[in-house]
Amino acid sequence: MSYKNDCFIKTLLREQTYKTPCWMMRQAGRYLPEYRATRAKAGNFMNLCMSPELATEVTLQPIDRFGFDAAILFSDILTIPDAMGLDLTFEEGKGPIFRKPLTTEEEIRNLRKVGMEEELGYVMDAVRMIVKELDNRVPLIGFSGSPWTLATYMLEGSTSKEYTKIRGLMYSNPALLHALLDQLADVVIEYLNAQIVNGVAAVQIFDTWGGLLSKECYKEFSLRYTQKILNGLIKNYNNQEIPSIIFTKNGGAWLSEQANVGANAVGLDWMTDLDHARALIGNKVVLQGNMDPAVLLSNPEIVRAEVKKVLDKFGVGGGHIFNLGHGIFPGIDPENVKAMVDAVRELSPAYH
Ligand code: CP3
Repeated sequence: MSYKNDCFIKTLLREQTYKTPCWMMRQAGRYLPEYRATRAKAGNFMNLCMSPELATEVTLQPIDRFGFDAAILFSDILTIPDAMGLDLTFEEGKGPIFRKPLTTEEEIRNLRKVGMEEELGYVMDAVRMIVKELDNRVPLIGFSGSPWTLATYMLEGSTSKEYTKIRGLMYSNPALLHALLDQLADVVIEYLNAQIVNGVAAVQIFDTWGGLLSKECYKEFSLRYTQKILNGLIKNYNNQEIPSIIFTKNGGAWLSEQANVGANAVGLDWMTDLDHARALIGNKVVLQGNMDPAVLLSNPEIVRAEVKKVLDKFGVGGGHIFNLGHGIFPGIDPENVKAMVDAVRELSPAYH
């Protein structure tokens, strides 16, 4: 497969490009009026994920509007626990809620096995339809949550402040938590490999809550399972290398560890110093990030200046994918996103 715009894949594979590729976490989302319209048509967020037609529509919206260099599958990391029987809902303004969170050892040990074309077939249908609709314009990124981050939601039942259930279990019954994480890693391997077989060109593993942990616990309960997943992924499909990106929010203290698990790229949040990261791990892995999403609360002129600061921080040469340091906020003015993408396109060739 070759893409009309291949600078994202080329950067991940360390090939020369004429500019820095740019995409954005949560690029399909509520800041876009056309997303809100499609979501209203779907009725709720899960219906949107479960309709391949509507998921395709919202995946392509930011590509059509801004010209990002990669598309990301429209879905959610919590599709896996939902398929395992935890019954996911999204209530307006409350974020994700599981109607049946894991509360006992028995529930953890008896989690339902999931079939990729059975319970998660709607995700694979969306991947196939998006790939067809993209028509090789840009590559499609597939994704999953890390086992640690999935387990936080599965045990707490929703987003939480301190995540005391999982953090307590980590000390009171580490063997049980390991059994859960290991099982999740196996499902994630199958899930990402199914996405690859259906057409995604790269994968990203989101570890949103790995940053809650001490260094030792991060290695033992989070990174170890991310590494297991990376070891189990299909590396080449249809004669194409399938690169991988890992992203741990608040993971800036463990850059060397993250660079050593076999991912092609490491995503950085905005708290992490990009020039320091490049000096430390930039020869080993591609770096993705890391503009503060709050920059987009300003205006186009300031956005452009801040984009330049990020490009300057990384400096001259390849091996950088421009992104935010985490997902975009719902209330952002799309004009500021346009200013960001335009600035990367116009300013970054000077660095290559
Ligand atoms: O990046 C993209 O555009 C692709 C789609 C995507 C979504 N969620 C859509 C979504 C991706 C990659 C995710 C990943 C995801 N989901 C993560 C990891 C990344 C991160 O943000 O840290 C996590 C932790 C989740 C779980 C989740 N899903 C939460 C906590 C929420 C509620 C937060 C909120 O903003 O309301 C969601 C809902 C969600 N997932 C929305 C979108 C566009 C908003 C739902 C809506 O339209 O109402």
